[in-house]
Amino acid sequence: MNQQISRRDFTKAIMTLAGSIMGAVVALPGIAYLVSPGAKAQKSESWKSLGAFANYPVGDPTAFSFTTTRGNGWEKTVKSSTVYVLRGAGDDVRVFSNICTHLSCNASWHKDVNHYICPCHDAHYAIDGAVVSGPAPRPLDQYEAKIESGNLLIHFSG
Ligand code: FES
Repeated sequence: MNQQISRRDFTKAIMTLAGSIMGAVVALPGIAYLVSPGAKAQKSESWKSLGAFANYPVGDPTAFSFTTTRGNGWEKTVKSSTVYVLRGAGDDVRVFSNICTHLSCNASWHKDVNHYICPCHDAHYAIDGAVVSGPAPRPLDQYEAKIESGNLLIHFSG
């Protein structure tokens, strides 16, 4: 069987192919531009400076608050965070999250009773973050910390 394609059909096929290629060349960069930020949900993870280590008093949990901006596609979210710095002897330091491990309310240091207290359901934590009383299932979270050039840094993800 001998099948022959007419000149008209051949031209039509070539024009369709050329049109498709030109359409793709024009459209793909635009589609990539629009879609790529949404495909990249960013979770920032970095060392965050809490300032001069020497400024933190020894043995007295000190609050440090800061904001971070997180990008999720086209959306930017600004989040406020507070940590407590507990400086010990020498370079010893522990940095606690103030997020209650029960249901994530904000705990704060109460020097009068030497506890971090969460106002939501009255969880109490000791100075080292351990649970003293209340519904908290585990101690306060701690951040990895280091001192560089006199500055206190924590490994922060959020
Ligand atoms: S959220 Fe802190 S005690 Fe419930």
